[in-house]
Amino acid sequence: MTIKAVNSGTAMRRLAHAYSAADADLIDEVFASFSPISDAPCRSTAGSFDSLVSGPNGGVARTRRRSTMTKVTAQMSVSLDGFYAGAQHLGDGNWIDSAEAAGFFRITRWVTDAMAWRERQGFAGGEQDTNSDIIAESFQAAGAYVMGRRMADGGEGPWGDNPPFRAPVFVVTHRPRQTLVRQGGTSFTYVTDGIASAVEQARAAANGKDVAVAGGGRLVRQVLKAGLLDELELHVVPVVLGTGMRLLDADLDLAGKEAIELTPTRVVHTPHVTHLRYTVNGRSALVLDDRGSGTGSVAGRVTDPAA
Ligand SMILES: NC(=O)c1ccc[n+]([C@@H]2O[C@H](COP(=O)([O-])OP(=O)(O)OC[C@H]3O[C@@H](n4cnc5c(N)ncnc54)[C@H](OP(=O)(O)O)[C@@H]3O)[C@@H](O)[C@H]2O)c1
Repeated sequence: MTIKAVNSGTAMRRLAHAYSAADADLIDEVFASFSPISDAPCRSTAGSFDSLVSGPNGGVARTRRRSTMTKVTAQMSVSLDGFYAGAQHLGDGNWIDSAEAAGFFRITRWVTDAMAWRERQGFAGGEQDTNSDIIAESFQAAGAYVMGRRMADGGEGPWGDNPPFRAPVFVVTHRPRQTLVRQGGTSFTYVTDGIASAVEQARAAANGKDVAVAGGGRLVRQVLKAGLLDELELHVVPVVLGTGMRLLDADLDLAGKEAIELTPTRVVHTPHVTHLRYTVNGRSALVLDDRGSGTGSVAGRVTDPAA
């Protein structure tokens, strides 16, 4: 099977329009126009409306219509070596001058260049391209956000009186604080009784839309570890930082023969970043089978990526 990619801004805009109009025929038409950019073997996911996985005859298989149920999603930009920011800033000094910030701003350059993000932030200009469409799509999908306290503290100044979220934000922290109400529908509610509570409060506030876990990495890791995440999207930036704050690390507390399995549902390639979307299947045991010996049945295995 072949992952197909959304590699045109026009197609993304048409798809967004088709989603919002719930126009199934248009959705099919736009899907059919996508061009393959990757021949990576891929399991077709039972059940993802967003899946751009071609069927056996080369046509697009769409196995389930997007449910109106709230999903818990997370998106993180990472370097090729898996870091979501540079080495953590500790102690005195300005965060903005730190290695943490330098790494973070390099990895998220595609975001700050994008018109959809700049518009939300009140900045002029920007690129109107596929990356911008992806940001617009994620703003559109989110009905509420969950955020770690470090990210919320770091953004409080730069986001200003009219933050880009335009939805309730639930900040996970050990430090109680009065709710901040900002312009444009954004509020910051500080949740001190754990991530599950924050996710549930966000779900109740999301009005049927998705709960977006906005970062930082510590929070995303915990939500993944706790089995609360339905969908993970990594925006992989072609830069190697060598050191920094790693997203998927030992804090996930996986046992020796345990893994978290995911199913890829979308790949969008652009020159500055590759967007990889996964459904999170959950924890599973790592079982030694007979593959290594070259014997045993191959039934059910993908032997021909083009098949
Ligand atoms: N690359 C990207 O896409 C991306 C996206 C977002 C952010 N970032 C970057 O990520 C960095 C921040 O991430 P981070 O991993 O350091 O921190 P974080 O996840 O934003 O926040 C961690 C803080 O959240 C609170 N927290 C987390 N789990 C908790 C729990 N179970 N119960 C209570 N409180 C809990 C704690 O706050 P208290 O200390 O108050 O208890 C903890 O110190 C920044 O550099 C930011 O710029 C990158």
